[in-house]
Amino acid sequence: MLAGKRILLIICGGIAAYKTLDLIRRLRADGASVSPVMTAAAAEFVTPLSVSALAGEAVHTTLFDLTAEAQMGHIQLSRVADLVVVAPATADMMAKMAGGHADDLASTLLMATDTPVLLAPAMNVRMWQHPATQRNLGLLKGDGVAVIGPDSGDMACGEYGPGRMAEPADIHAAIRQHLAQGPLAGRRVIVTSGPTQEPIDPVRYISNRSSGAQGTAIGQALQALGAHVVFVSGPADVPPPNGVELYQVETAQQMLHAVTAALPADAVVCAAAVADWRVANAPESKMKKQQGRLPVLEFAENPDILATISAPGPLRPKLVVGFAAETDDVLANAQAKRARKGCDWIVANDVSPATGTFGGSENTVHLVSEAGVEEWPKMAKTAVAQRLAQRMADTLNS
Ligand code: CTP
Repeated sequence: MLAGKRILLIICGGIAAYKTLDLIRRLRADGASVSPVMTAAAAEFVTPLSVSALAGEAVHTTLFDLTAEAQMGHIQLSRVADLVVVAPATADMMAKMAGGHADDLASTLLMATDTPVLLAPAMNVRMWQHPATQRNLGLLKGDGVAVIGPDSGDMACGEYGPGRMAEPADIHAAIRQHLAQGPLAGRRVIVTSGPTQEPIDPVRYISNRSSGAQGTAIGQALQALGAHVVFVSGPADVPPPNGVELYQVETAQQMLHAVTAALPADAVVCAAAVADWRVANAPESKMKKQQGRLPVLEFAENPDILATISAPGPLRPKLVVGFAAETDDVLANAQAKRARKGCDWIVANDVSPATGTFGGSENTVHLVSEAGVEEWPKMAKTAVAQRLAQRMADTLNS
């Protein structure tokens, strides 16, 4: 997918620098060329030899390298790339960029480039949270610099919180997305996926058997066509696609909130199996067994995310797609559901036990739209996702 693309990779001095070796390997396996640049501090964490061995190119380190200047000037180096990636981006490099400093090769390249820049910050939690770093982050975003991460987790310094560099697989996916040229490039699509969990009390919940497989496949297929995918997922067994803008939720109410906060979008695909009801009288503390008395749960209806998004209004996406899992009268039920919820398309799923859809890797679907019903042959869930994504691209671009 990255064949013929050139990435200028600027490695700064942080413990996460070792992860860029994996990133280089992934980018090259994906067909990209990588021109590595290392700051002096970066060379304290990984050796230029390892970096150049993996990149298959010499590492650039100094501003005044006469041989390099004779071959390719530093300005030129920054311009021939399709994307400049700074990983790890330290607090110091972010400050330099925000302030417009150019006192070493890396910062000079960043000042001289007219190529899009993607930062993968990595630093101590307090450094990340420091007002100066947050101020610089705001300035850089305002300048059009893209940022991935940082992730939260245990840090090499022994602290916990945001500051860990995004994983190489996620940086790779973000790079793919930046260089995406597919029919959905520049489009923002929200996908809901997985089940929701509705608490009965703090330790028990009601949920369903949705694995999230179809939602993840749809997210990947949309991404492969170049879309920016916002993935709102309940607690699913199948992991979300790499590199999406991810929101992990538990309840239907949280899912609705995450989806509406992510608007506006060009399209929404509601693939989640949202619980229709929640427990209205869920206590704050764990329910205890009481001799001879059974608990009585009261239910309240959950908001219908698909219907809410489909309602007319200024933020109504151009294309809203829902799913319908049916065992009987598949088409009549799906058509009625499309009308009731106000969405544009319903992907009607025949989930009668004989089809083996639940938990299986294949799906038999019909696409129900205003134009009528299309019967799709039985195919892998990934193929359903690809066909759906292509149909969405055709419609959004028509
Ligand atoms: N949906 C939703 N929010 C809900 C319930 C459902 O967004 N609270 C969406 C699902 O993501 C899916 C579609 O609506 O796209 C399915 O609708 P639903 O009425 O739940 O259909 P079924 O699960 O098939 O259930 P039923 O046949 O009982 O209506």
